[in-house]
Amino acid sequence: MNSLLIQCRPGFETEAASEIALHAEQYGAHGYARTQAGQAWVEWVTQDASACERLMREVRFNQLIFIRQWARGQFVDLPEKDRLTSLLGVFKAYPRVAQVWLEVPDTNDGKSLASFCKKFTAPLEKGMHKVGCLRANAELPQRIQLFFLNSQRVFVGLAERANAATWPMGIPRLKFPREAPSRSTLKLEEAWHHFVPREQWDSRLAPAMTAVDLGAAPGGWTWQLVQRHIRVSAVDNGPMDPALMDSGLVEHFRADGYQFEPRKSVDWMVCDIVERPARTAWLIEQWLGHGWCREAVVNLKLPMKKRFDEVQQILMRLEEFFDEAGVKVSIRCKQLYHDREEVTCHLRRFN
Ligand SMILES: C[S@@+](CC[C@H](N)C(=O)[O-])C[C@H]1O[C@@H](n2cnc3c(N)ncnc32)[C@H](O)[C@@H]1O
Repeated sequence: MNSLLIQCRPGFETEAASEIALHAEQYGAHGYARTQAGQAWVEWVTQDASACERLMREVRFNQLIFIRQWARGQFVDLPEKDRLTSLLGVFKAYPRVAQVWLEVPDTNDGKSLASFCKKFTAPLEKGMHKVGCLRANAELPQRIQLFFLNSQRVFVGLAERANAATWPMGIPRLKFPREAPSRSTLKLEEAWHHFVPREQWDSRLAPAMTAVDLGAAPGGWTWQLVQRHIRVSAVDNGPMDPALMDSGLVEHFRADGYQFEPRKSVDWMVCDIVERPARTAWLIEQWLGHGWCREAVVNLKLPMKKRFDEVQQILMRLEEFFDEAGVKVSIRCKQLYHDREEVTCHLRRFN
């Protein structure tokens, strides 16, 4: 069990590896990354199993940016026939768990395994129940995550349910709402799922709250806010979706998002403008620093190279800025499933 299997967006293996290496150094879980560009996963190999366990215990999963899912364990080769018996044998070295997830890389090869995984799930769960390694007991803290590269090679991983992704492969199953004006709408919905606990939506995304949407057109993000009955000032020189304007909850300002100041402080600022990260950081400082909003979701477009370093620098810059200004702000950042060459930041001001 001396490997950590990390999943990420295809093409971001270097960033995921840099990220785990940084944490591994901090917690003395030295190792090396095995990966290939475009495969959507990284194996972090340490000297012994305790290093992986320590890393997963010390690092909060929700602090990770490029890492979508993780588990500690080992790769296992299964026979062509009766894979189940062979897997049940492997599970003897694992604790009892409350759940088993079947996962695959987020690539076309991975997708081609979907029907195999679907067919294998029921017999696997039945077999695990029978030998007692899977229990319908919500108290059990761990989960087995099987990460299939093909039907015969699988990483048998273990993760703490409270400190790993909330969805298999870290991918939320969100349905595109047909009435929404753009596909970007899912980015904001995913951000909320990720950054705002579901039980707090009614108080933090409440009807009659106010929001500013910078770079709003045609209105996918505004649409999400309106669904929550939030009043929106939509700032963009481009046209907004007419049906969305009919809601009566949206005021459209044809203005530059970098110049726009709200008449009164709002509950939320959201921003999806394609800009240099440093300029976006400046915008965040203005809004949270002046208290123009209480919470923000801001998309940070990444440069072509040194993407991990750039994100680290921006986050450090923001932390220093708010520290010096004496403003208490929590900052989180994640590459969401719906993010491409970008990450999404969430900020919340407490004083
Ligand atoms: C990626 S689109 C936003 C999509 C939107 N979030 C949605 O869900 O429909 C970026 C938008 O930013 C706008 N934009 C670019 N620069 C801007 C600026 N300086 N101020 C305001 N809007 C800007 C563009 O006109 C474009 O509509």
